[in-house]
Amino acid sequence: MFIARTLHDLADASRMMARDASMALVPTMGALHPGHLSLLTAARGHGHDVAVSIFVNPTQFNDVNDLARYPRVEDADLALLRDAGCGLVWLPSVETMYPNAADARIEVGGPALGWEGDARPGHFAAVSTVVAKLLNQVRPVRAYFGEKDWQQLQVIRSVVAELFIPVAIEGVATVREADGLAMASRNRFLGAEQRERAPAVYRCLLRAARAIAEGDAVPAVLDTAREDLELRGFGVDYLALVDGRSLHAISNLASGARLIAAARLGGVRLLDNVPVAADPATRLI
Ligand code: PAJ
Repeated sequence: MFIARTLHDLADASRMMARDASMALVPTMGALHPGHLSLLTAARGHGHDVAVSIFVNPTQFNDVNDLARYPRVEDADLALLRDAGCGLVWLPSVETMYPNAADARIEVGGPALGWEGDARPGHFAAVSTVVAKLLNQVRPVRAYFGEKDWQQLQVIRSVVAELFIPVAIEGVATVREADGLAMASRNRFLGAEQRERAPAVYRCLLRAARAIAEGDAVPAVLDTAREDLELRGFGVDYLALVDGRSLHAISNLASGARLIAAARLGGVRLLDNVPVAADPATRLI
């Protein structure tokens, strides 16, 4: 496994790897868990040599405390990646990624508007910019993103299409704990009692998706799900039925519909989403 920390090392490693197979990129911020590794596994399954980037991108954090406490566990990450068959780890510094103090950046609209876009002003512009930089540095033929961050996945798809970035974007299903909680690097900040309550987000989404699929009125279902979470002590930032591509709120079930939610438990923000289909527990749109 190559480990590159400078653009020079990255160019050397890419040259050596390009011999055999086409390259795929999995962008991450580290603190890797099985959700991240599933992206690597999907890429390997498509026959690629896989580069994983680990960069805690400072510009996409809205809260300095969130950035300061973001877990950084490089040795553990490298061990996991080695075991999982990663070909190259790209570990750029802030200076490498922002050589001119962030002089240029991508503006985003469309699927970036609303939801996380409202909760975290500037977040998707920062994510889009750093992902474009990573794609230009590594030049993969495919890049893999988790459905766990559904809105982010749609924003990246839209940026790549609008800017004609020559890469195929692949979405990978959310990996969950045994009790349904979507795996996330920030889950480690949940206290024991909060950790027990956290899977309620997924359960409420599944219940709501089933009710909508069975024909119940969407606004009533959303109100009930929100109240349910609030009664359990969650602060619900949003819980909505949206078109899965545009992220526009919809009030009737349509093909490609997605239920998305962000709920706070103590200081931890939990994001989750599910498809809404005839049988939401088993059928993916
Ligand atoms: P990070 O939160 O580290 O996530 C890296 C990738 O792993 C994202 O595509 C995310 O959707 C995916 N992922 C996280 N948890 C997952 C789970 N439980 N199941 C499946 N996939 C999961 O998202 C970011 O980093 C950053 O915004 C980044 C795209 C790297 C830009 O800085």
